[in-house]
Amino acid sequence: MEGHQVSIDSTKCIGCGVCAKVCAAHNIIINYKKAKTLSDHCLMCGQCSAVCPKEAISITNYSVEQIVKKEENRLNPDDVLNVIRFRRTIRQFKQEEIPSEVISQILEAGRLTHTAKNMQDVSFIVLDREKNRIEQMAVSLFRKLKPLADLFSPMARNNKIDDNFFFFNAPVVIVILAKEKTNGILAAQNMEFVAEANGLGVLFSGFFTTAVNASHKIKKALNIPKGKRAAMTLVMGYSAVKFLRSAPREKLDVSYR
Ligand SMILES: Cc1cc2nc3c(=O)[nH]c(=O)nc-3n(C[C@H](O)[C@H](O)[C@H](O)COP(=O)(O)O)c2cc1C
Repeated sequence: MEGHQVSIDSTKCIGCGVCAKVCAAHNIIINYKKAKTLSDHCLMCGQCSAVCPKEAISITNYSVEQIVKKEENRLNPDDVLNVIRFRRTIRQFKQEEIPSEVISQILEAGRLTHTAKNMQDVSFIVLDREKNRIEQMAVSLFRKLKPLADLFSPMARNNKIDDNFFFFNAPVVIVILAKEKTNGILAAQNMEFVAEANGLGVLFSGFFTTAVNASHKIKKALNIPKGKRAAMTLVMGYSAVKFLRSAPREKLDVSYR
């Protein structure tokens, strides 16, 4: 990864070798009882730095500090499963603002989410002032495409594209950008969990994400950098609907070999 280097302070290093053992790139060896990197070709995942008992290893050029883990943060598995079971896609929102600290926490969940090859290619656009203008751009695109969709999909025929078709009057919309779509989707799921933990409801808008990627005009309005695309769009706010039970789902489809 460009712009970073593994830096080992040999005065602190005790040569215990835990860094070498966790290094996925096999880039650290113990030489004369000191850790040493073999090359600068590395994922820069920072596991060596996170595991070192002597704080002897750092990765240069990261602007956000590492945080010391003081306790085990283990969630109750039944609670986690129930969050997954009872979360629902929300399409009706209260007209209530989301505190900025909550938005920051949701964004932090996205920032901290792991990425393939430690690419760290995920970024975020919070639609605020421009939300309605950008939604209307997507609405006019979909209105143009609707006659074609109607030919193939009975569900499309039943669906009217009104002015709130994408965002359902939600107070906050976050467009997640990535080079690698999977990385953006993983961030989206973690962000949903943190949003749910804050009492919010979320809609994953595949439609809006498609509209962004299909339209140069919307990409330009959002200032999406070259090489990135919209991976997912999270539409969020306080739910105006209370669901009373879980939704029906197919039984588990699993095989063991
Ligand atoms: C990747 C993805 C894209 C989605 N895109 C849309 C969308 O554009 N519009 C919409 O109303 N719902 C969208 N949904 C919501 C699904 O329709 C919803 O998750 C599904 O019907 C199950 O309902 P539940 O989320 O309440 O369990 C999307 C969900 C996912 C996972």
